[in-house]
Amino acid sequence: MPVKILMVCLGNICRSPLAEGILASKLPKDKFIVDSAGTGDWHVGKQPDKRSIAIANSRGIDISCQKARQFRKQDFKEYDYIYVMDGSNYRNVIDLAPDEESKKKVSLILNELFPNENVDVPDPYFGLENGFVTVYEMLDEVCDVIAEKLIKEHSSS
Ligand code: 4NP
Repeated sequence: MPVKILMVCLGNICRSPLAEGILASKLPKDKFIVDSAGTGDWHVGKQPDKRSIAIANSRGIDISCQKARQFRKQDFKEYDYIYVMDGSNYRNVIDLAPDEESKKKVSLILNELFPNENVDVPDPYFGLENGFVTVYEMLDEVCDVIAEKLIKEHSSS
């Protein structure tokens, strides 16, 4: 059975689609499935934001086929790891967790790079183009750490 990882932000059009595309590009496809979702429902069914598509494209990653969806309680059952982009996403996801085991699956993504510091991936939606470059670079760096950890943890399965 493949290991399943879910990336979560607010709208599922800027940060988590990038996190999905970047992490998937660093993991073997036969062993890992990476998906993303938003805590909000405004953009359900939409393509990622043009600026996320463009920055990913410039680094050789195509996220244009992704479609936004809303995070749902069932995701706690279906996914092994849930990475959220900021503290607000963390609270929204934890509020839906049915039990302690589900809560343990949820991590603030940048804590993988800066343990216990609770640093947010900033929301670039209302900002300028360079916000997307910053977000891409943060996610690329943390996804290197996550991919290495996941490959190590699941190497015998
Ligand atoms: P995301 O960015 O959570 O990184 O996808 C946002 C996208 C849309 C909105 C907020 C954040 N919005 O308010 O519509």
